[in-house]
Amino acid sequence: MPTRRTGRPRTPPRWPRLDGGLALAAVLLLAACEGRQSALDPGAANARDILVTTWVLFVGGTVIFVGVMALAVWAVVASPERFPGARSWVIGGGIVFPVVTLTVLQVHEFGLARRLVTLAADPALTVEVTGHMWWWDVRYREPGGGPLRSANEIVIPAGRPVEFRVDSADVIHSFWMPSLAGKIDMIPGRVNRLSIVAERPGVYRGQCAEYCGAQHALMAFDVIVMEPERFDAWLADQRRPAPDPAEPELARGRDAFFAFGCQSCHAVRGTPAVSRIGPDLTHVGGRLSIGAGSFATNVGSLAGWIASAQHLKPENRMPSFDVMDGETLRAMAAWLESLK
Ligand code: CUA
Repeated sequence: MPTRRTGRPRTPPRWPRLDGGLALAAVLLLAACEGRQSALDPGAANARDILVTTWVLFVGGTVIFVGVMALAVWAVVASPERFPGARSWVIGGGIVFPVVTLTVLQVHEFGLARRLVTLAADPALTVEVTGHMWWWDVRYREPGGGPLRSANEIVIPAGRPVEFRVDSADVIHSFWMPSLAGKIDMIPGRVNRLSIVAERPGVYRGQCAEYCGAQHALMAFDVIVMEPERFDAWLADQRRPAPDPAEPELARGRDAFFAFGCQSCHAVRGTPAVSRIGPDLTHVGGRLSIGAGSFATNVGSLAGWIASAQHLKPENRMPSFDVMDGETLRAMAAWLESLK
């Protein structure tokens, strides 16, 4: 059975012991602030703007809370002579301060919201993403170019404006790449748009952020930010159809794919498989993960997925093909893995 890449640990966590354990917990907590799926580790201006606002609200709120509590304690314990000017405290602290503070914050929020929804005038790339229960259909469009279909992984160039256009095929999902931008709803029948410029090449992780059914938690995706030249080469490479099987075993795997009717749901460009019900598999072997960010891509996880999709991700639309003999299963997994 493939190893799950993310999700709950296998054994329930124990509470940290109250000596070195607490220190360790604090270090782990701080370490969790960095990483490929952390709003606290921004890799684009949108995410940084949101983070700054988060800190302003968190630190400001803390300071105000502590100040108010201190004043409340003072007011209770001090005698009336030692707590002068009660009326000015009420007017100053109760009316003037909140009005000024909230007005300043509101003006700041208007500016932030405007920046976050402003679309790039001419994006170098448009990425259309449609949410499905529970996977992501991805189409790349360059200015003047036709769509290039992929799934469950998004590759974008660093330093170039990219526009995302998201919608949904079934229920409401939410498209969220915490290190790169804020959440954006995916709504059936409506296209929502978002512009970002990713700054740092690297591998990030996105996650559906709106409860959408049993496998909402396993509706994730990888976001790979590449240097622009590498991205151009990658995109050109992706436009190629799937390669012909180089070995008899791979040919057997491809034949099994059609014998078992996989083309009823999946497309593999360069073959007769053209369905769009499920993820496009043309270059599935080159993606980091399968099952919408659930398992690392390798022959073992692909075979496990084919044979036990309903066990690994119950209620997803792909049946478990548990009637296949081992050799056929291995061959089909090997063929899919070879589709780089
Ligand atoms: Cu899709 Cu939650």
